[in-house]
Amino acid sequence: MNAIWGKKIVLGLSGGIACYKAAELCRLLIKARAHVQVVMTEAAAQFITPVTMQALSNQEVYTSQWDARASNNMAHINLTREADMVLVAPTSADFMAKLLHGQADDLLSLLCLARPMASCPLVLAPAMNREMWLHPATQRNVAQLSSDGAQVLGVAAGDQACGETGDGRMLEPAEIVQELARVFTAPALLGHRVLITAGPTFEAIDPVRGITNRSSGKMGYALASAAWQAGAEVTLVSGPVSLAAPRGVKRVMVESGQEMHEAVTSCAAQHDVFIATAAVADWRVKDVSTQKLKKTKETPSPVLDFIQNPDILASVAQGARAQSREIYCVGFAAETQDLARHAHDKRLSKGVPLMVGNLGPATFGLDDNELLIVDDRGSRTLPRASKDELAQSLVWEIAQRLPSYLKA
Ligand code: CTP
Repeated sequence: MNAIWGKKIVLGLSGGIACYKAAELCRLLIKARAHVQVVMTEAAAQFITPVTMQALSNQEVYTSQWDARASNNMAHINLTREADMVLVAPTSADFMAKLLHGQADDLLSLLCLARPMASCPLVLAPAMNREMWLHPATQRNVAQLSSDGAQVLGVAAGDQACGETGDGRMLEPAEIVQELARVFTAPALLGHRVLITAGPTFEAIDPVRGITNRSSGKMGYALASAAWQAGAEVTLVSGPVSLAAPRGVKRVMVESGQEMHEAVTSCAAQHDVFIATAAVADWRVKDVSTQKLKKTKETPSPVLDFIQNPDILASVAQGARAQSREIYCVGFAAETQDLARHAHDKRLSKGVPLMVGNLGPATFGLDDNELLIVDDRGSRTLPRASKDELAQSLVWEIAQRLPSYLKA
């Protein structure tokens, strides 16, 4: 179950061209199984019709505080009393200025003011021209609204509908959904700094060829997202994959096992949790050819010498022990048989408190999996679920183990 599942979200639209993105946002929220009640300002209805939003949310749309459908004629109260959040996307510069003053002359601003602040957070996704965004008045409003308790999301940079380029675009719908998931997730890793490796590594043979391991990176990326949603600061060191950087996560792209080792070693000391999900190639070619190897009659197939890559997980765990530093290390054991035995043995040989086992290659690249978690108390299965759900469960499992481990 995702963090948004079953949540009652009032989706407010104020006027701006980014209203077209609100349609996709609504669709994603519905897909995540939220209940979405759309409320639009008069200006928003100039950009996108209530009919579109009604069809996507499967609910009648509210646009006026005088709406006679509310039997008590208090739509602003009725709509927020059961709500888990009011999200205004897009939030125009004008609407922000209004909220700042507690002005309440239309249904959306009225319900933002009337919402129960303790149980119904207000999240704003600004969208405007770059000059408007940079204007001191707007920046002052953002700061004041944040200190009044609203969560003002950032903006994206890029081409704007007005033809200019810069900061001020509304975040993409998928990014906003990620931000909402963070609001709804218990901050189990708040204050922790989590380092994650993900994906395969690529070991060059010559400038055009190489060897690699099978890994889509999906599990590591899902863990990075889940850790960020649980409040952690996350660094993701990733081998070559085709996945987008998860929201909120600092991503460092690398290619080879040695590069991954260097990237991890250079920042491990600034983290207190290390999760190694990467499928690091165990060997690299000893003498990488600077030119493309040619097929000749004498050498129909080249003979390659290999040397072992550093074991990143074992070296982080060992380095921390040597310096009496505390870092909670989690390994992933990808096996083809005898999962429990191999995971148990790897936990001991790598000197880490937690090993997560999974059986490949049948699950490689899929969106779901089944995991076995092994620690000093034994092993337990996390039943088949999506990699996102498994990542959330694992984050919770790790968070439970941290206080006693980091105190010990
Ligand atoms: N790992 C690592 N660096 C390596 C090899 C593995 O950090 N050079 C980490 C992986 O990210 C994973 C764990 O060690 O968390 C186990 O990886 P796995 O490939 O299952 O095991 P190996 O140690 O490579 O052993 P084997 O290939 O013999 O199964």
